[in-house]
Amino acid sequence: MDQNISYHAIQTLPESTQSACIAIGIYKSRKLTAAAEQIDKACKGYLRALLKEGDFNADIGETQLLYGLPNVQAKRILLVGCGQAGKISLADYRHIHAAFARKAVHLKTSEAISFLTEIEVSDLEKTARLQHAVLAAEDAIYRFEQYKTDPVGKFKLKKISFAQADGKQLAQHSVAVSQAAAIAKGTALAKTLGNLPANVCTPSYLAKQARALQRDFKSVKTNVLDETAMKKLGMNALLSVGRGSREPARLIVMEYMHGKKTDKPVVLVGKGITFDTGGISIKPSLGMDEMKFDMCGAASVLGVIKACAQMQLKANVIGVIAGAENMPGGNATKPGDIVKSYSGKTIEILNTDAEGRLVLCDALTYIERFKPGAVIDIATLTGACIVALGRLPSGLLGNNQKLIDQLIKAGEQSGDRVWQLPLWPEYRKQLKSNFADLANIGGPEAGTITAASFLSHFTEAYPWAHLDIAGTAWRTGKQKGATGRPVQLLMQYILMQHAQSVKA
Ligand code: BES
Ligand code: MN
Ligand code: ZN
Repeated sequence: MDQNISYHAIQTLPESTQSACIAIGIYKSRKLTAAAEQIDKACKGYLRALLKEGDFNADIGETQLLYGLPNVQAKRILLVGCGQAGKISLADYRHIHAAFARKAVHLKTSEAISFLTEIEVSDLEKTARLQHAVLAAEDAIYRFEQYKTDPVGKFKLKKISFAQADGKQLAQHSVAVSQAAAIAKGTALAKTLGNLPANVCTPSYLAKQARALQRDFKSVKTNVLDETAMKKLGMNALLSVGRGSREPARLIVMEYMHGKKTDKPVVLVGKGITFDTGGISIKPSLGMDEMKFDMCGAASVLGVIKACAQMQLKANVIGVIAGAENMPGGNATKPGDIVKSYSGKTIEILNTDAEGRLVLCDALTYIERFKPGAVIDIATLTGACIVALGRLPSGLLGNNQKLIDQLIKAGEQSGDRVWQLPLWPEYRKQLKSNFADLANIGGPEAGTITAASFLSHFTEAYPWAHLDIAGTAWRTGKQKGATGRPVQLLMQYILMQHAQSVKA
């Protein structure tokens, strides 16, 4: 699991650097990047001559290894295709770095140097390009093989350096690289927690991970509420979800208060359903294994707190996880049961499979005590979100357009995109109950919106945004596995708030 590569920003020349492998970019139509040009000059046109053979198309992410180029110090030159010069999107750019990293870990070398951050992407500064390079590389080489007897992802690579020919702003670039490495570690943590099976990753296991963060970073303060503590407070909506399970529910609080005393904290609330069978409103069995990913919101909260602590960010961020396992059983909540939430509002649970909103609503009331400047909840909340938006953006709704606009911007900058859906008050009608203040489902229409609408009853005390990550938290099919989203979106948002994302 822990394939630890260190990342560096260095100043060096492509032709005169001793290295096991140097990666340089080639555009289509045999157009050379500056580093490739330098190499070609050193070997007196040998590179251009090779390209003329026409075997290398320079398609995005295409790679070709060259050995023993004359007058070049490095043992290997890795050509990486960059597509059409001047037409490279952020996704293309990340693809290029992913291809480089994948190739580099396949070589039996311990270090590699990349000149690929010189590739221009529309309005991305050099520092942002460095950060995307680190994040794309780490994403590409991530493996979850702790349960494989013969892991295939073992590699020797220990160090990747991003090189520039001049020394300009090297110090800032180093900061950018180490920040990105911290975000990458947070993302990897989120992926691993998501990928862990539900017989390992229980609510108590999430609590253990939160305590581990407190142990590893003095700046993190962890507090875990068990069922007795929650009962005392009256968190009956949260508790109702865990009733059918042998695994006790947990409310997990991680405080990272490393910013100005006067700065109100950003509070992140993650849905931590470590397995969602649907409860008595049980789900069909096909694909139910994927409901181990129903704690990916919680995983992203742990990932963000880890990233903040790792980079010692001057910010106040509080992460809260509403953890429970949703199971049928003799003690389980039944359709029609009524519970009184922590807020005092009563809820008729018409469908026990709409459990995410039940654990979240009590957590969202609990966090009022932190007097948040902004609250973002992150939840694999509705299958309807996948129907509406597919798997590219996370769904975004909320009660504060300024916060939403900031998140949209952070999404564009990080490539971890979001799409806003309306949260008009008229939708609240769908949640009427004959017997309680609210029903927990809103009928077959606009499922993502009515879920958020339910939450909006509990978030009136602060600016709030809701991220429905049902379509983005994991991949299904052959590539099944957690994506670590939306850790990078949230980190971009937090960095933007504190204007600490280093500028070029
Ligand atoms: N965890 C699911 C949502 C989900 C389903 C995410 C499939 C990703 C893939 C959630 O708890 C759920 O079951 N939601 C119900 C809500 C319905 C009962 C109103 C759903 O989406 O069907
Ligand atoms: Mn459910
Ligand atoms: Zn669920």
